[in-house]
This record gives sequence, structure tokens and C-alpha cells, in this order.
Amino acid sequence: MEKIKIVELFAGVGGFRIGLTNASEKFEMVWSNQWEPKTKSQEASEIYIKRFGEENHSNKDIAKVSIDELPEHNILVGGFPCQDYSVAKCLSQSKGITGKKGVLWWEIHRILRDNKNKPEFILLENVDRLLSSPASQRGRDFAIILSSLSNLGYIVEWRIINAADYGMPQRRRRIFIMGYHKKSSIYKEIKKDNSEKWIFNNGTLAKAFGININKIFFKKKFNIDGNLIEVTNNFNKKGKFSPFQNCGIIIDRKIFTAKVFPDYDGERITLGDIVLPEEKIPEEFFVNGEYEKWEYLKGAKREKRFNKSRNFYYNYNEGAMIFPDSLDKPSRTIITGEGGSTPSRFKHVVKTENGRLRRLMPLELERLNMFPDNHTKGCTNIKRAFLMGNALVIGVIERIGKELSLKLD
Ligand SMILES: C[S@@+](CC[C@H](N)C(=O)[O-])C[C@H]1O[C@@H](n2cnc3c(N)ncnc32)[C@H](O)[C@@H]1O
Repeated sequence: MEKIKIVELFAGVGGFRIGLTNASEKFEMVWSNQWEPKTKSQEASEIYIKRFGEENHSNKDIAKVSIDELPEHNILVGGFPCQDYSVAKCLSQSKGITGKKGVLWWEIHRILRDNKNKPEFILLENVDRLLSSPASQRGRDFAIILSSLSNLGYIVEWRIINAADYGMPQRRRRIFIMGYHKKSSIYKEIKKDNSEKWIFNNGTLAKAFGININKIFFKKKFNIDGNLIEVTNNFNKKGKFSPFQNCGIIIDRKIFTAKVFPDYDGERITLGDIVLPEEKIPEEFFVNGEYEKWEYLKGAKREKRFNKSRNFYYNYNEGAMIFPDSLDKPSRTIITGEGGSTPSRFKHVVKTENGRLRRLMPLELERLNMFPDNHTKGCTNIKRAFLMGNALVIGVIERIGKELSLKLD
């Protein structure tokens, strides 16, 4: 059996690795990199090593990794941190595009660009607002990513997937970007097919996440012209909205995009299916005291607030959050700040069988991401919550991995 060798960048605690290796025996990990820039401690990397061993794992800033350190691989995967993806405007055209320092998309780009034997496939994950950022030039950053991958010889398709739309336990909407290099058999297959058929019916993402073909809107074709500096300077200069819908493909700088809706009638998992019985919950997870503060933070607000640094009053409005969280739906997106007892608007709070309110345990957060139980055991509860808030729903990667491996049979 031909192996599909994986390199996992921005590996966190290994969501891509687990998803892909669960999907098929064909997937084989050959190298991973994870380094947390904000802290001296490196819990994600430590957990990664604890679970998978230290062989072929690198714990250094990706910016300091040269392409020679990576073994040959067939698929490059990673959920890269979301920042500003634009190219540096001050770069002169003659100097070429090297990209802004510290912008991690350009590290992925460098690793692909410098690789003489480019991987056949790329699978990236990011927040869905990547499609519409920055606010001043909607969709420009995504246009830069797509056109730079197109320049490197990839056809790229994307879909925004909400894991809960396909029965998974968490409402987590993320963009999944899948690239096929021109040397791959799939690239040739897509070229033969037409883009519409690929993204709505036959493609890897369409097969993994069925689309309601009676409900497809805003179909649009356009080209992204010019070099990357021109894209940076000119893309959608006057538009109010991003031209990219939640599904699309780029082939030779030609875009086809449309708004699609899920088609799924399988099993559905709710937060209620995930939560543990009350007797399993240590006392520290219960909301003891400070109930009013929780209620205030979760509640609707319409108040005057004072901005100290700018010395003025302004009107502050926000709607109410569901409090406690409803157990008969998939959970809201889990966030990095989920741990710790301090009251918060965004932390999950559930009501137990006996009417007590409590936060979620690390084990429950792991289950909401479909990770193996106790995957992050070995660091503090606050850190475990942080690691899960940064991670992804493994079931999504698993489904994509299954379809990709079937296409390579
Ligand atoms: C969105 S998270 C990805 C989480 C991962 N998919 C998982 O399943 O846990 C991005 C990761 O990139 C790491 N990171 C940020 N800057 C980095 C850098 N310069 N070099 C290497 N890793 C970095 C962060 O520490 C974080 O773990």
C-alpha cells in the first residue's frame, strides 16, 4: 500500500494527525512542528511528545525551520494562527514577494516554495473570517493566499464547515482549504471535470460534506489577475463584501465560488450527550458564589460606558447569551479561555440533574473536539482548556482524510 506521508505544521496537540491516521492506514506521520510564541512553557509540544513520542517532532519557531529539516512528504497540513495575511506593501516589485515578517501564512508559503519536491496535497484550517478580511478590502487576504498557491502549481478548493451541521457535537465553523499539486492524479481529474461538478458533487470536500444541490446561491466566476503586490493593492478595492462565498475553487487563477448549504440526515450529537453525570464533577467546576456576576456577563446589556484613555462616554449594547447552555443542541464553539473559575460571558455553563450550575471539565472539552479521552492530561486544567480551544473537531479531518484516501485507491 502506497503511504500518504504527513507533515503537520502548527501542530498544537495533533488534531490533524489523529484525524488523518484515524481515517486510513495509508496516512503516516513523518514530521511535526509546534512552538508556542507567547509563553516559555511549551505544553502543546510536551503533550504532543507524550502522546506520539519525540521522534520527528520539532519544537521551534517555524520561521527558523529550513526546508532541509523536513523529510519528503505527500501532504502538508496545519491550522495556522489567524493574523494579517497581506504582503508587505513596501516591498519593491523587483525584490519579489518575501512576505511580512511574523505572518505565519508566509512561513507555510516559504516551506512550499522552497521544496523542490512539493507535496501533492495541502490541507489547511483557519477561522471563517479569513474569507472576508481585512475590513478595509474584503477578501484580499484570501485572494493572496489562493493566488500564491495557484502560482506554486496548486488547484485549491475551500469550504466553510460547521462541524455540528454534520452531526458532530460542537458548532465550530472553520474554513478548510485543500490543495492539489499539478503532479497529483487528482489535479488531472479536476482539470478533466469542471469546477462546478468538483465542488458540488465529486470533490474531496463535497464527498466528505454533502451539499444540498437544490439550494446553491450566488454562483460567481472571476479571475484574480496580477502579481501578488498588485493583488494586495487592488483586490476588491471598492467592494463592500468579499466576493468569496463559503465554497469555491481556484484553477489557474480562475475562481468559481458559490454559497452552499449542508445536506445531512445522519445521527446528531448534543452537548447533553457529552456532559458527565454530576457525581463525576469535582467541586471546583461548580459555580459557587458570584452567580450575579455570571448572570450579568451572560445577560443583555444596554448601558453607558466610559472610555478612560479617550475620555468619553459611549453606548454599549449586547444581546443575551443562553445561560445555562442548552443541552439539547451541539455545544457553542469552545474557546481558549474556557478554563478557570472567573465568571465570563463566553465560558460554557451547564445545569446538572440537581439544578446546580457548573463549567465544563477538560475531558468534556476533549470530547466536544472528538479527541481521545484525557489526550491533554498532564498539564493544568486551565491549560487543557486552552489547548482544546485552539484545536479542531477531529471528525471533520477524519471525513476529509477518508475521502482523500478513497480518491487515491
Ligand atoms: C490554531 S492552533 C492549531 C492547533 C492544532 N490544529 C491542534 O489540533 O491542536 C495554532 C498553533 O500554532 C502554534 N504556533 C504559533 N506560532 C508558531 C510559530 N511561530 N511556530 C510554530 N508554531 C506556532 C500555536 O502554539 C498553536 O498551537
